[in-house]
Amino acid sequence: MPPSHPAPPPVDDLDATLVEAWRLLGRAAADPASPLHTPVLATIGRDGAPEARTVVLRAFDPATRALTFYTDARSPKVAELTADPRATVLLYDPDAKVQLRLTGVATVTVGAAALWETIRASSRLDYAQAAAPGAPLASPVLVSLPTGAPNFRLIIFTFGALDWLRLSAAGHRRARFVWGEGGVSATWLAP
Ligand SMILES: Cc1cc2nc3c(=O)[nH]c(=O)nc-3n(C[C@H](O)[C@H](O)[C@H](O)COP(=O)(O)O)c2cc1C
Repeated sequence: MPPSHPAPPPVDDLDATLVEAWRLLGRAAADPASPLHTPVLATIGRDGAPEARTVVLRAFDPATRALTFYTDARSPKVAELTADPRATVLLYDPDAKVQLRLTGVATVTVGAAALWETIRASSRLDYAQAAAPGAPLASPVLVSLPTGAPNFRLIIFTFGALDWLRLSAAGHRRARFVWGEGGVSATWLAP
């Protein structure tokens, strides 16, 4: 079966590459069918060791280079990001054969009540477990709290660097974009 979103031909243009990265990230947030919809968020564990887990990409703001994720206030990643906000988000699109590695910092904020109301009832249950994520359980049967609203948090991840890698039989391409006070600087890298 052909890929649902075939890879466009390589474009050896850094500006066009960044436009393509923005397009992929925008679709990743808006379309649950996008292979980039569930990236890996990597953080620094409380013991200094790397930690990584899958999360759902909820929003992408190209103006601020911010990705939004939802999580439970009690999950270890929240404590990790509070102690050290540095994080990496890794995304891979097997149709486009594009890997994106985003490095930046994340802040954790309380989710607004209006946003909570937009979450499906079944998904709200994720935040309403009596036991904190990762807590040992005597039984796998879950016990629910009346509401998960107090546990609902947003992770806002803002990246300052984007590493783009596109695999292609016509020649792999890798580029790095770094944002600073003077704007964005871009360069090709050896893949
Ligand atoms: C497809 C998929 C999507 C997930 N989405 C989220 C998510 O959006 N937010 C979240 O906190 N955990 C999500 N999880 C669970 C995390 O991967 C992880 O197991 C959990 O958050 C605990 O992580 P921590 O112990 O590192 O804090 C998802 C897992 C999978 C498999």
